Amino acid sequence: MVRAQIRLLKTLEEFRACERLQLAVWGNLAVGGEVLGVTQKYGGAVFGVLVRGRVVGFLYAFLARRHGRLIHWSHMMAVDERYRDLGLGFRMKLAHREHALAQSIKSICWTYDPLQSRNAALNLARLGARVVEFIPNCYGRFPSAIERGLTSDRFVVDWRIASRAVERRLREKPPRMADAARWPQVNETRLNAQGFLVNARLHLNLRAPRLLVEIPPNTDAMRARALALARRWRLESRRIFQRYLAAGYCIEDFLPPSAATGGRCFYLLRKGAGD
Ligand SMILES: CC(C)(COP(=O)(O)OP(=O)(O)OC[C@H]1O[C@@H](n2cnc3c(N)ncnc32)[C@H](O)[C@@H]1OP(=O)(O)O)[C@@H](O)C(=O)NCCC(=O)NCCS
Repeated sequence: MVRAQIRLLKTLEEFRACERLQLAVWGNLAVGGEVLGVTQKYGGAVFGVLVRGRVVGFLYAFLARRHGRLIHWSHMMAVDERYRDLGLGFRMKLAHREHALAQSIKSICWTYDPLQSRNAALNLARLGARVVEFIPNCYGRFPSAIERGLTSDRFVVDWRIASRAVERRLREKPPRMADAARWPQVNETRLNAQGFLVNARLHLNLRAPRLLVEIPPNTDAMRARALALARRWRLESRRIFQRYLAAGYCIEDFLPPSAATGGRCFYLLRKGAGD
């Protein structure tokens, strides 16, 4: 277990460390240290994870307005690759929640790529954030090492940090496959010779109250080794989400990969409004 401190960052040197992390994680610099410092001082929050005094992760959020209410817009979060899956992203989100609640902020929003299963697991299953919008090609084709030239489709999530549903989710375990396995699956899938998940058939006219949409558990590896397939996933998942969101479904939850799912992972869609 790594000993890590999570706290608001303070010095320009710490903000410069966030610049270096952006370069390491995305391959480009989106927000410079000066803006991070100003945001920290005058509205928003910049949290860091420090291991032995070194910044190995950060979260950047600014004060924003959505539907007339003040919110925090959490534009970036990154953890150095060597420190992932240790719960540090989760702990940064919890620290941000406490900080925002103390400022009477009730909602933190951000975007994430629907095909990044780790982000889906953290955002939906662990934190209890809810998908409120799907934006195809949200940021255009931007020079991100993670995106690798794909169009930047995004879910917008709203994390209602003061809600009972979120409090409950933070106490309890995410939903289990056993409860969801009976629902029909929108995309029939198979593994190809490289071991990557492929859509074999899409069902775009299902009407069950709940539906499953499978996504690959290893999008980064697919983008590195099978870019054409990753592009196909982008377009096919866009078709699925647009089709079912327009048909009145919401993204209810995410079932992360586990022994019970045989390493597979699924969005759970529900007929009806999200809230
Ligand atoms: C997103 C990110 C910040 C998460 O940080 P992290 O410290 O690894 O997150 P955590 O360890 O708290 O949570 C990750 C969860 O995903 C799970 N996970 C790991 N691999 C997974 C996979 N392939 N599919 C689904 N879930 C996975 C982990 O088990 C963990 O869940 P658990 O705590 O219930 O076990 C980090 O992965 C990152 O920097 N990614 C690149 C940048 C990015 O995408 N930023 C977010 C959008 S701006």
